[in-house]
Amino acid sequence: MTPPGVACITGASSGIGAATAEEFARHGWAIAMGARRNGTLKILAAKLLELGSPKVFHHQLDVTSRKSVKDFAAATAAEFPGGIDALVNNAGLAVGTARLSQVTDDEIDQVIDTNVKGAIAILRAFLPGMLDRNRGHIINMGSVAGFWVYEGGSIYAASKHALSAVTRTLRLELNGTPIRITSIDPGMVETGFSEVRFGGDQEKAAAVYKGMTPLTALDIAECIWFAASRPAHVNIDQMILMPVDQASVYKVHRR
Ligand SMILES: NC(=O)c1ccc[n+]([C@@H]2O[C@H](COP(=O)([O-])OP(=O)(O)OC[C@H]3O[C@@H](n4cnc5c(N)ncnc54)[C@H](OP(=O)(O)O)[C@@H]3O)[C@@H](O)[C@H]2O)c1
Repeated sequence: MTPPGVACITGASSGIGAATAEEFARHGWAIAMGARRNGTLKILAAKLLELGSPKVFHHQLDVTSRKSVKDFAAATAAEFPGGIDALVNNAGLAVGTARLSQVTDDEIDQVIDTNVKGAIAILRAFLPGMLDRNRGHIINMGSVAGFWVYEGGSIYAASKHALSAVTRTLRLELNGTPIRITSIDPGMVETGFSEVRFGGDQEKAAAVYKGMTPLTALDIAECIWFAASRPAHVNIDQMILMPVDQASVYKVHRR
């Protein structure tokens, strides 16, 4: 059995991040979590303690702000001086489905600043501590968009392709250390993701999953936990998860 440790989860206020915090709490892990909606994290924190987490720390985090990332990492280090055992680098989003010729500069900035520069900033904030302690496991939230592309998804796919490149590079750079690195690459998961993508339009978001059975945030959280709870010599490089109803970005069976 994996001894309980400390998991740091970004984007824990919703969807996969929140479900992952709950999964680690159920296994008795302490949690440090961040997102922009700190009020939502506060409500989740109470639940995590009830689920069995010995200690929960939450802090406002905007991964697109270098200062915010720095403050979050410093506050986490102050709260957990022994360091973290797992970093779930999950905060991310897609904005719209415009084709490249129509996508706005703001949409490009939002996605690249969050999914690429934000995820890298988080890695750079926590990696030095892991290297100093010779301990840790990085779990990057990729996507099938990290190796597939589709019309209207150029920027999101570019961002997840970039994160995949970072994950695979780190796998090489960390060789010779006990630090593990995993990419979790899901297909369609029903979370707040589509609502955010469609600017709060619930009807459009619901249509994405119409007539098919998507993955749940818990399905992903259980895989993250599986990767984190393997014996120390086992590195799960990549997990690709798809709903049975989804065979590719284009082939989704709907009833
Ligand atoms: N759902 C899917 O089908 C799917 C498939 C493959 C991969 N993914 C990936 O899974 C990850 C989680 O998404 P989800 O499906 O759980 O969607 P979600 O329910 O919308 O959750 C996204 C999380 O990211 C946080 N976030 C967004 N921008 C942030 C920022 N600038 N700083 C800090 N936190 C930020 C959000 O918190 P705040 O808004 O409070 O900041 C929220 O907690 C993303 O990286 C996404 O690309 C999702």
